[in-house]
Amino acid sequence: MRTTSLMALPSSVLAGIFLFALTSAQKDNGNECSCFLTNGSSSGYFSYHRFHDFRNVAGASATPPTVISNENNATEAFATSDFFLSDAWQNDWQIQNWNNSDSMSASGATVLMINSANNIYIEQSNNTAPDYTSYLTFRTSRLPGFQSAAEVDSNEKNFQYLSARFLARVIGAPGACAGMFTYLPNDNPQLVQESDIEILTAGPRDMVQYTNQPSNDKNGNAQPQATVNGTNPGGRDWTLWNTYRLDWMPKMTSWYVNGESVANIAFQVPRDPSGLIMNMWSDGGVWTGNMSLYDEAYLQIQWIEVVYNTSGPFAGTSKRDEHGAGGLLEKRKGTPGCMAVCSVDADVNVTGTPVLLYNNTGVALTWRGEGTGWLAWIPLVLAGSALFGYL
Ligand SMILES: *[C@@H]1O[C@H](CO)[C@@H](O)[C@H](O)[C@H]1NC(C)=O
Ligand SMILES: *[C@@H]1O[C@H](CO)[C@@H](O)[C@H](O)[C@H]1NC(C)=O
Ligand SMILES: *[C@@H]1O[C@H](CO)[C@@H](O)[C@H](O)[C@H]1NC(C)=O
Ligand SMILES: *[C@@H]1O[C@H](CO)[C@@H](O)[C@H](O)[C@H]1NC(C)=O
Ligand SMILES: *[C@@H]1O[C@H](CO)[C@@H](O)[C@H](O)[C@H]1NC(C)=O
Ligand SMILES: *[C@@H]1O[C@H](CO)[C@@H](O)[C@H](O)[C@H]1NC(C)=O
Ligand SMILES: *[C@@H]1O[C@H](CO)[C@@H](O)[C@H](O)[C@H]1NC(C)=O
Ligand SMILES: *[C@@H]1O[C@H](CO)[C@@H](O)[C@H](O)[C@H]1NC(C)=O
Ligand SMILES: *[C@@H]1O[C@H](CO)[C@@H](O)[C@H](O)[C@H]1NC(C)=O
Repeated sequence: MRTTSLMALPSSVLAGIFLFALTSAQKDNGNECSCFLTNGSSSGYFSYHRFHDFRNVAGASATPPTVISNENNATEAFATSDFFLSDAWQNDWQIQNWNNSDSMSASGATVLMINSANNIYIEQSNNTAPDYTSYLTFRTSRLPGFQSAAEVDSNEKNFQYLSARFLARVIGAPGACAGMFTYLPNDNPQLVQESDIEILTAGPRDMVQYTNQPSNDKNGNAQPQATVNGTNPGGRDWTLWNTYRLDWMPKMTSWYVNGESVANIAFQVPRDPSGLIMNMWSDGGVWTGNMSLYDEAYLQIQWIEVVYNTSGPFAGTSKRDEHGAGGLLEKRKGTPGCMAVCSVDADVNVTGTPVLLYNNTGVALTWRGEGTGWLAWIPLVLAGSALFGYL
């Protein structure tokens, strides 16, 4: 029985809802859209869109922050510029300053690694490309006493399925690993859930590693079905700007570089709500290798675009919450829901700005028995905006 439908709301309320959605979610560049469609074999629909743009940040520095060689000062370092103190950054991301002292022996690290806010900065581009004057840099640097590293975690840790794209390059000395990945931590390394893009600066310059962690079993043996050592399309160097795309979907994780498929892994696909992480690191272990003293390496990112669904509390939970908002997601499954379908791939002319593909607004109203389904989209979009601090 249909007791509620959007049609039943007074039009003034309706107008208010739309206006609210349009004015409160500017940053997602998709404010006319009620869902977002991705292309390729891992194509799907998602409720939310975010575009993080580091290409033309005013006041970007031409000079990287001086490396801090003291362990405590590196740990306690302040943000390198006001950019990282802005709400726009702080609502979404958290710069890390943990170190690996507790986990060195278990992880096979041979070098103390300290994450420092001093290694994360907006850098001015030194070339004359018209479309960007700056980018976000993650630096890692080998110092006499330790390896200084860089990591940023998303505040939102309830992503459940997403398509994330990074326009990125990696430059610098061998012995480091650039990572862009989904992450659900667990004290037991065998229970960590993670879909990875990893670029090893000691590796061949056209190869990138894609993995659904854990890549080793509990006896330490490699699980070959968990990982693909992929070649960039056209053998392009990772020192050049490439768009890396990670599609975490219910039954498979798929990866693309510059729009071309490079890996599909159906083994050990992450199941539970997770966060997103970017980092540049090294610990002298077998995976990264060692960096030579005073060498540096960098992960640089022009922009990040993410379309995603969520489940459970914003800050995540290490256990699945069957009674939480997860139940809501279940309820939403199978509803047509989406009034204005936007593409983040096909027909997109302006990077980061989704394009309207279909407008079902009139159509949905005539569908029988589906009224509550599509009503559900609007509050969810608003809830997403609220969580990102727009309301
Ligand atoms: C979708 O169609 C409805 C009804 O025709 C219209 O009011 C609305 O502005 C359209 N939305 C977009 C994003 O074009
Ligand atoms: C998705 O669309 C973009 C833009 O049209 C295109 O460059 C890319 O190759 C497509 N990817 C797949 C996997 O079809
Ligand atoms: C650490 O930072 C403090 C405060 O800025 C400074 O006084 C001190 O000299 C620094 N220590 C080292 C070893 O650089
Ligand atoms: C490294 O982390 C430990 C906790 O894991 C902390 O006690 C220690 O102070 C940290 N070291 C530095 C240099 O900050
Ligand atoms: C420009 O910046 C890149 C990346 O940081 C660096 O490798 C290169 O040496 C710089 N070129 C000049 C001329 O400064
Ligand atoms: C990926 O394959 C290349 C070429 O065979 C090899 O040199 C490299 O070590 C491999 N990378 C990893 C992480 O296994
Ligand atoms: C890195 O160097 C340390 C000594 O500083 C050594 O113990 C370790 O085996 C090296 N790691 C690799 C992967 O070569
Ligand atoms: C995202 O949520 C919508 C609404 O429930 C659903 O239709 C869609 O299939 C979901 N996408 C994925 C990849 O699960
Ligand atoms: C994208 O650009 C093409 C070529 O200029 C144009 O035909 C098309 O209408 C544009 N699409 C949108 C959505 O603006």
